This record gives sequence, C-alpha cells and structure tokens, in this order.
Amino acid sequence: MKTVSVIGATGMLGQPVARALIADGFNVRILTRNPGNARRLFGDKVDIRNADLHDIPSLKSALAGTDMVYVNVGGHSKATYYRNHVVGTQNLLKALEGQTLDVIAMISSAAAHPEFNDRWDNHYKWEAEQLLKASNQPYLAFMPSWFMESLDLFVQKNRLMQIGPSTKGIHWVAADDYGQTVSRCLQDEHCRNKRMHVYGPETLTMTQACRRVADSWQLQHTPLPSWLAATIGRLSRDPVLVDVADLTRHYDRTGEKPDPDALRTTTTLTQWLLNRSAKVGVAA
Ligand SMILES: NC(=O)c1ccc[n+]([C@@H]2O[C@H](COP(=O)([O-])OP(=O)(O)OC[C@H]3O[C@@H](n4cnc5c(N)ncnc54)[C@H](OP(=O)(O)O)[C@@H]3O)[C@@H](O)[C@H]2O)c1
Repeated sequence: MKTVSVIGATGMLGQPVARALIADGFNVRILTRNPGNARRLFGDKVDIRNADLHDIPSLKSALAGTDMVYVNVGGHSKATYYRNHVVGTQNLLKALEGQTLDVIAMISSAAAHPEFNDRWDNHYKWEAEQLLKASNQPYLAFMPSWFMESLDLFVQKNRLMQIGPSTKGIHWVAADDYGQTVSRCLQDEHCRNKRMHVYGPETLTMTQACRRVADSWQLQHTPLPSWLAATIGRLSRDPVLVDVADLTRHYDRTGEKPDPDALRTTTTLTQWLLNRSAKVGVAA
C-alpha cells in the first residue's frame, strides 16, 4: 500500500482524514511539531515524524520515500495564514525536490476563488494551490464548504453564538465524510490535477443550522450581527472575533458557487447530531 504523509494530522480537520487513510490501509506517516500529542491521538502503531513546515531539512528527512502528501494547515492571522500556506508550500516543494510523487493534496476552501480574494484566507489558499499547480507534481485541492464541526466553536457556556448575516444556503460537510472523500480520491489515479468543491447533501442557512444545533444541545440560540461582533472584538482586542465577523459576512455575501461536479458527502446535519449524541452516550 502507498505511503501518505499527512502534515496537520493533529488538527480538527486533519484527524478525520488521517483516520480514514489508516482505515483504508494506507501506510500513514504523520508529520508534526509535537510527536507526543500525535502519539496520544493516534497511538504507537502509526509512523510519527518530528517535522516543521518552516524547517526544510526536517521536512526533507521526514518525507523521504513517501508516495503522497496531504496538507492540512490553517492560521490564526493574516501573517500566520500567509506563512503556513504560501511559505509552507514553497518549503514543502523545496523539500520534495528530486522526488516524484503520486500526488500532493491540500485542504483549500469552497471560497478560494480569485474573485473572492479580497479576504486574505481565500487569497493565500489560492496562492498555495497555484504553487502546487506550477510544481509539475500531480496535485489535488479539496474545497470544502463549512464543516459541521465548526459549530462546536460557536458554543459559549449555555449559548450558541451565531455571528453575522444568514441569507444563503451552506452545504454543511461532516468531517468524517470529508476524510473518506479525500481517501477515495487519493486511491483513484483519475482524480489528479483538480480543484474540487466538497459539498454536503443539503443546504441550510447559518440560522437554520444554528437553530437545529442549539435545539439538539439544549443551548440558547443567540444571533449577533457582524458589526456588533466586530465592535466587541475591537474593544476587547480580540482579532479572531473581528475576523470571524468579517468571514461570516463575506461568506454570506459571496455564497457558494453552484457546481454539478462537486464531490458530495452524505451525512445530514440531523444525522450528524444523532451520531454525536450516540458517541456522547457511549462515552458516558
Ligand atoms: N472550519 C471550516 O469550516 C473549514 C472549511 C473549509 C476549509 N477549512 C480549512 O481547514 C484548514 C484546517 O483547519 P483545522 O481546523 O484542522 O486547523 P487546526 O486544528 O488549527 O490544525 C492545524 C494543523 O496544522 C499543523 N501545523 C501548523 N503549523 C505547522 C507547521 N509549521 N509545521 C507543520 N504542521 C503545522 C498543526 O500540526 P502540529 O501542531 O501537530 O504540528 C495542526 O495539526 C484551515 O486551513 C481552514 O481554512 C476549514
């Protein structure tokens, strides 16, 4: 079986990809800056290597002999987003010089289109994709819509905070479905040199999704206009809140591009909530 090196396997959206690849029999190599954390998450049977996207020798040694690479990185500011996506991709390609891979794949975003580049996250995702495209290595860019797992980040004590407007449908994606979708594409040699939207089975506006989750988790659904969230963020010197206010406003303004060729996942939000309750029930 092929060896796939995953950078960012410890992340919220990297974990389900790494787990799907392991379940499908890939030889998975995890590149991380924190091997102890990766071992806690994945156990002793997975090949875990200490490597940093900003340390080319560490990447070169960890990637020797790999067949594929999957990259799942994020960023918490314009500077870290640029560093992880643009500089990180340049470093990755330098570290892979002299190796020909089956594919280098990355998580991009449904909004990573040049006409939406007024937001820096879309802009740097797009730039990272262009670097892969120009590299002469086979590449894949997955462009998922909002993940249902992001809704966890909206919970504050007994409230589900919904920031920003809600006029457009969103194809919510379950992260486990996404992991399986990525694994299937990596196994399919026809699935190369593409950028693909990944959309869930139904559209729900932000308000519809938040109401459904708040009901299920017995939280108070609390909408907050983006201008108010941005003001609170500025006054409390919370740049992440300011950015989330802008992100939700921007995503609602641009909406998602219709795409008949989008990869479709199957889990609905209702099913995802049921799966979550079952998991919590088992854990308790
Ligand atoms: N949330 C959504 O709805 C949504 C929708 C579409 C796309 N996305 C995209 O999904 C991406 C990933 O999100 P996430 O939630 O999984 O992020 P996350 O939880 O913050 O994980 C980031 C990962 O990046 C790794 N990383 C960071 N800096 C690194 C470095 N210098 N060298 C090597 N690894 C590094 C970390 O690994 P270690 O700490 O182990 O090194 C960590 O596993 C983001 O780019 C986001 O734009 C999200």
